[in-house]
Amino acid sequence: MLTCLAVSGYRSLRDVRLGLGPLNVITGPNGSGKSSLYRALRLLSDVAQGRAIGSLAAEGGLESTLWAGPEKISRDMRSGRFPVQGTRRDGPVSLRLGFASEDFGYAIDLGLPIPSLTRFSHDPEIKAESVWTGQMLGRSNSFADRNGQRVRLRNRSTGEWQARFAELPAYDSMMMHCPDAADGHELLLLRERMRGWRFYDDLRTDRDAPARRPQIGTRTPVLASDGSDLGAAIQTIVEIGAADTLRETIADAFDGATLAVGARFEVEMQQPGLLRPLVAAELSDGTLRYLLLAAALLSPRPPELMILNEPEASLHPDLLDPLARLLVTASRHSQIIIVSHARALVEALDRAADTLVIELRKEWGETHTSQVGVPDWAWPKR
Ligand SMILES: Nc1ncnc2c1ncn2[C@@H]1O[C@H](COP(=O)(O)OP(=O)(O)OP(=O)(O)O)[C@@H](O)[C@H]1O
Ligand SMILES: [Mg+2]
Repeated sequence: MLTCLAVSGYRSLRDVRLGLGPLNVITGPNGSGKSSLYRALRLLSDVAQGRAIGSLAAEGGLESTLWAGPEKISRDMRSGRFPVQGTRRDGPVSLRLGFASEDFGYAIDLGLPIPSLTRFSHDPEIKAESVWTGQMLGRSNSFADRNGQRVRLRNRSTGEWQARFAELPAYDSMMMHCPDAADGHELLLLRERMRGWRFYDDLRTDRDAPARRPQIGTRTPVLASDGSDLGAAIQTIVEIGAADTLRETIADAFDGATLAVGARFEVEMQQPGLLRPLVAAELSDGTLRYLLLAAALLSPRPPELMILNEPEASLHPDLLDPLARLLVTASRHSQIIIVSHARALVEALDRAADTLVIELRKEWGETHTSQVGVPDWAWPKR
């Protein structure tokens, strides 16, 4: 379970630290930084896939994603005596992402490239990385670190540092190059875990949504991120998963309706009062979305961490209570982070279980959180 998430220099998240529990909702007004937090988590999981630099480029590159305000906002700027303006920088330009979990922590620091003869001169560079045991990075608990191109690992039995790379390219994370069974197996474990984080933010329900089409079904313990294998995922839950919970949540949400999966793996819903079941192509957007969420949340192979971006989109308020119950059920097997701006969902979750509600707000362009007593944090040094 992640216990802390830390982001610095990423969009409006100039310096944000969150303590996390088993079930978390991140909420706040428009522009407060919710989606940015979601994307920061995605970027972290991209690091473990070797895709972080590419994802940053797809977001417009480091120049666009870096905090666009001054390094510090002075008291005179806040009081309006002086306009907000850039001051001479004390520190380097840097975008930093990290997390701590119950056993390991990881952080990465990305910065501007050193000018050189290349057409990829806008690619950000990985300046520092660190992996440690326990909560906060310290001198004695780190066991892998990177500084510039140098990477070293600590031998866990002797405690000695050993050089691993002298020249790891600045676009490669040490998470991609050090994990091996012999002396990097904690890194391997951590990387596989980060790869296993499951994100849902693009469950399409429009007329042409993949979930509305018949499909070739194979056993599907994990719903695809676009929901295209909905029928197979539902059938897998029925055969090897929480079939009863699925049946109950559908009946609960849709007045006694039942689900079936047709010959071509299309989802069918029998609603009271109708002579024939409706197929996925005929379901309303909200109904389809609820089915997609149920298939994602009742996965027979639950991930360690599941992150859902605005799951409430297009759901009627009546469905928010069943959705909250579904989320609570899922949080028994996975840590859940929900990004939502639906007050009603936040309240339903708060009523249903011990939910950590994290409110974001923006002040002087910078995201702040409502949390008090956030965990201590230290970034790796460059
Ligand atoms: N490089 C940057 N530096 C500072 N602020 C930025 C930067 N890029 C974007 N922002 C601002 O960060 C804020 C947070 O955006 P974000 O998309 O995370 O908001 P949100 O909470 O998801 O809002 P919504 O509810 O409207 O989706 C926005 O106001 C945006 O203009
Ligand atoms: Mg948003």
